[in-house]
Amino acid sequence: MYRSLVFAASLLSVARGQLVGTEQTETHSGMTWQSCTAKGSCTSKTGKVVIDANWRWLHVKGGYNNCYTGNEWNTTACKDNKSCATNCAMDGADYKGTYGITASGNSLQLKFITKGSYSTNIGSRNSEFTFDVDVSGLPCGLNGALYFVSMDADGGLKKYSTNKAGAKYGTGYCDAQCPRDLKFINGEGNVEGWAPSVNDANAGVGGHGSCCAEMDIWEANSVSTAVTPHSCSTIEQSRCNGDDCGGTYSADRYAGVCDPDGCDFNSYRMGVKDFYGKGKTVDTSKKFTVVTQFIGTCNAMEIKRFYVQGGKTIANSASTIPGVDGNSITTKFCDQQKAAFGDKYTSKDKGGMANMAKALANGMVLVMSLWDDYYSNMLWLDSRYPRDKNPDTDLGSGRGDCETTSGAPADVESQHPDATVIYSNIKSGPLNSTFG
Ligand SMILES: *[C@@H]1O[C@H](CO)[C@@H](O)[C@H](O)[C@H]1NC(C)=O
Ligand SMILES: *[C@@H]1O[C@H](CO)[C@@H](O)[C@H](O)[C@H]1NC(C)=O
Ligand SMILES: *[C@@H]1O[C@H](CO)[C@@H](O)[C@H](O)[C@H]1NC(C)=O
Repeated sequence: MYRSLVFAASLLSVARGQLVGTEQTETHSGMTWQSCTAKGSCTSKTGKVVIDANWRWLHVKGGYNNCYTGNEWNTTACKDNKSCATNCAMDGADYKGTYGITASGNSLQLKFITKGSYSTNIGSRNSEFTFDVDVSGLPCGLNGALYFVSMDADGGLKKYSTNKAGAKYGTGYCDAQCPRDLKFINGEGNVEGWAPSVNDANAGVGGHGSCCAEMDIWEANSVSTAVTPHSCSTIEQSRCNGDDCGGTYSADRYAGVCDPDGCDFNSYRMGVKDFYGKGKTVDTSKKFTVVTQFIGTCNAMEIKRFYVQGGKTIANSASTIPGVDGNSITTKFCDQQKAAFGDKYTSKDKGGMANMAKALANGMVLVMSLWDDYYSNMLWLDSRYPRDKNPDTDLGSGRGDCETTSGAPADVESQHPDATVIYSNIKSGPLNSTFG
């Protein structure tokens, strides 16, 4: 999977050496963001952008021989999970040259077919998180995502003694799909049980996955967008085994500690088709501001969305689906939506809104990425999904205007290699302090 993962790390640990290679110097780009206390009263802070470890060159320590090529491990250097971590080193990254990542001032540009993550706290209750985004260059099948995960801020450096790289090298990723395509988890290689992907020349699925709570503030292209909390019964990063991981990479999606589906608000899916898109109420042919508020706490937390464009504050569209009320995500909204769409309701079993609120209060790491989808062509975001449903009668299956034949990674990668998303002007603070 091509995905650009960039963590904004406010706290960078000193790298001591999974081992660290020295062939390419790691120089993080700075990106400023603002912490606000009241409207018009914000202070600039500088964060660092770090590329996820998974996309780095991994080589035999002290030389140039590969430990991983394409979607396969070097079986000499990586005979087993543990030896792999001591034999192989991940190297620094040339952010712009190799990965197409450009940070300047308060903005970060991610180019598709680049890889690349960022840590900050949205902090506790009654706070909001705001950023500007330009998705005009993102067609069907692509997902420019900005989200928070409960990964360790130091990348797992303290917890796992064999992880010598840490946050500086983007280690320790986890999310609510309990990804199994990670090359290292808990300071060990994900080597044993690794199966190269059948359709992705650069990825595979290993015997372990890495789970943690995930708050998808923003998953979007120019056609559709969704905001989605994914709770987990175990909030912090935890390693899982094989298909017990659940999530996208496992035979039983619902087997793990996290809620892989989440409770999403996608305006189109909630019945309002003329709200978000090119030339629509929120016009995706131009830059706009996305505001996400976290109001209240525990199961009573509400996730509220506003947009600002052309100087106007635009309330999120309200659901027009019979039996589903409101324009924000609350426990009641999730109850109603899952019932109306007949969707499996996993979030409740995984701690629901209460655990999402707890994850936010504990502090999460901000991740920005641009990715295409080797499992379902992003149809769940921007088209009809499941594909064989009739959106007029099967409520919830219509998610956007894209064709059901769109979004195949081979097509997206060959037709839109220059697709770009730009995130800028990140702000956080108490309610109503960051916009308007
Ligand atoms: C695999 O690793 C061994 C050392 O462990 C090295 O000699 C060999 O060149 C590597 N293979 C590739 C394809 O880089
Ligand atoms: C390596 O990981 C696999 C799962 O990926 C596990 O089954 C195996 O026991 C691990 N090996 C060791 C030596 O810990
Ligand atoms: C924030 O602004 C909205 C809309 O103007 C208003 O309804 C709400 O009460 C405000 N919240 C706070 C905490 O000021």
